[in-house]
This record gives sequence, C-alpha cells and structure tokens, in this order.
Amino acid sequence: MPAKDRLFGRLALNHPIILAPMANASTPALVAAVSNEGGLGSIGAARLAPDAITTAIREVRAKTNRLFAVNLFAPLPVIVDAAKIETARRLLEPYYREVGLDEVPAPPVKPPYCFDDQLSAVLDEKPPVVSFTFNLLPVDAMRRVRASGAMTIGTATNVAEARALEEAGVDAIVAQGGEAGGHRGTFIGPFEDSLIGLMALIPVIAGAVRVPVIAAGGIMDGRGIRAALGLGASAAQIGTAFLGCPENSAVNPVYRANVLDAADKPTTIVRVYSGRYARMIRNRYVTEMSAHEASLPAYPVMGALTQPFMQAAA
Ligand SMILES: Cc1cc2nc3c(=O)[nH]c(=O)nc-3n(C[C@H](O)[C@H](O)[C@H](O)COP(=O)(O)O)c2cc1C
Repeated sequence: MPAKDRLFGRLALNHPIILAPMANASTPALVAAVSNEGGLGSIGAARLAPDAITTAIREVRAKTNRLFAVNLFAPLPVIVDAAKIETARRLLEPYYREVGLDEVPAPPVKPPYCFDDQLSAVLDEKPPVVSFTFNLLPVDAMRRVRASGAMTIGTATNVAEARALEEAGVDAIVAQGGEAGGHRGTFIGPFEDSLIGLMALIPVIAGAVRVPVIAAGGIMDGRGIRAALGLGASAAQIGTAFLGCPENSAVNPVYRANVLDAADKPTTIVRVYSGRYARMIRNRYVTEMSAHEASLPAYPVMGALTQPFMQAAA
C-alpha cells in the first residue's frame, strides 16, 4: 500500500493536514477544530507540567471524537555552565527591568518540567498518536510509547536523522525544512548543515525511508500542500499559518497581529530564547541578544532564564 494511504488510514484523515504541535502557542480548541475538520490536531505539550498535559488531553477529548497527537521534546542533556548562566543573567537584567520584573532566576536554574513525568502523564491518557522532536526518544521511552499502542512520529532535518528514526521504529517522519517556524529539530550534525529547503528535503527523505513522510516548513496554503505531496510527502504539518486562527487564544493579540502582518518582516534563526536554535521574527531583543549568542547557556537552561521575561513581555 502506498505510504500516503497508510498514513491516511492510520490517522483517519480526510485531508492531508496536520496541525503542527506548538508549545505555548496553540489551544485544545484549535487542536480539536483541526481534527474535527478531518486533519490531525497536535497538542504541543513540551512546556506543560504533567497535570496540565492531562487537562489539555481531556479538553481535546471533550471537543472531538477524532484522532489527535500529543507532542513532547525528546530529552537532551542539561549542561550547567555557571559562567554562561551569570553572563546571561547580567545581559537579561535590563530586559527584566523594562517589563517590570526584578529578579532574573537565580542558580541553580532548573527547567520546570521532567521528561519522564511528562511522558507518564501523556501515556496515562492513552493518546492515539505521540510525536516528538529534538532527538530520538530514549530506548525505554520509545518502548513505553509503542507498548501503549500509540502511533509514533519523529522529526528529521536530514537523511541521516530520518534513517535513525526509522531504525528506532517510528511510524512516520516529519521532514522539517529550513523554512520551518519554531525550533530546529536537528540532532545529527550541526544545525547549520541541516537548513535544507523543503523542496530538496522531501524527495531525499522520501527516497531513503519506507515510512510515510510528513512535510513541514513554510507551507501556507493549498499550493504548498500540493507541492509537498507532489514531491513525495504523504501530508503537510503546518504551524505558522494556524497561529492567527480564532480558536487559538494562546496567541496574544500583539503577537497575532505581528504574525499576520509578517509578509515583509525578516525571520532569523537564533538561540537567544531557549538556548536552542529556532526561527522567529526578528525583534529588538533578538537583534541585541544575538550579538552575545556564543556566551549564552544551552537549552534548556537559557529557556528557564528567559521564561518569566517572555511571559511578562507578551
Ligand atoms: C510557534 C511555534 C511553536 C512550535 N513548537 C513546536 C513544538 O512544540 N514541537 C514540535 O515538534 N514542533 C514545533 N514547532 C515546529 C513545527 O512542528 C513545524 O516544524 C513548523 O511549524 C513548520 O513550519 P511553518 O511554521 O512554516 O508551518 C513549532 C512551530 C512554531 C511556529
């Protein structure tokens, strides 16, 4: 059976559209709306505490009987570099003051969530699909997800990652082109080597693996979806284009207006928010902080340092 039919069958899709999981930037109402329309909604659960994950899944279930996905960030080693933390705290101080906050979080800086607890919260609710990005899942986590009966979707930005994901047993692979909004999923090689445009990435990944490929990055309408399918993808995973939807109250009005009006605004890939490279609209913070990028701590420590500022600035 062709990969596209397999994916449509497993996900009960009427349309080749997957709402990208967007941590902190989508709502259960949006997830359910996409599933109800015959696409696949995805809960971006990576930045949620375990009890909030349970609540989000139950909210989606209350609004749809159709399938949906829950997405987590695969765990990465936490590197605590005291000098980089101090540099970041010093650089962040004026921004904290500007939005009316006093204290940049003090060491020990702890990411607010623990992957194993998040995964347990996800699996307790038995979601039909679990997707992830940033890495392979640890072997034991992968075993637990597959034992739960959930379909698994991993994220690749190059052929080596796609092959590694297939070998690890995923059921489908998101091919994330360099155009994609949000974090880069790269886990093999430097991220700069894997900013491959989606037009080039889809056919090489589709040619290298047997599992269905889902195209992500810069797809904004039916023309992009058609192009992705023509190149060998089985569906499109779309993020940015859903940010402005009325069901998406997670996106505040200023951010929404900024995205809807972004046609000629530059986007750039920086790691000044979370410590991990992500594509975002350039703003004053991005421009100023990027000058110090090499001195900043890695993900997820930088993310823990910027979190209160990001919330207040929003
Ligand atoms: C605001 C935002 C948040 C995102 N958060 C996640 C996430 O939590 N997990 C994930 O796997 N991908 C995340 N992504 C990346 C998407 O899965 C996808 O690769 C991307 O949205 C595709 O590009 P597009 O935004 O141009 O459609 C995010 C993207 C955006 C725009």
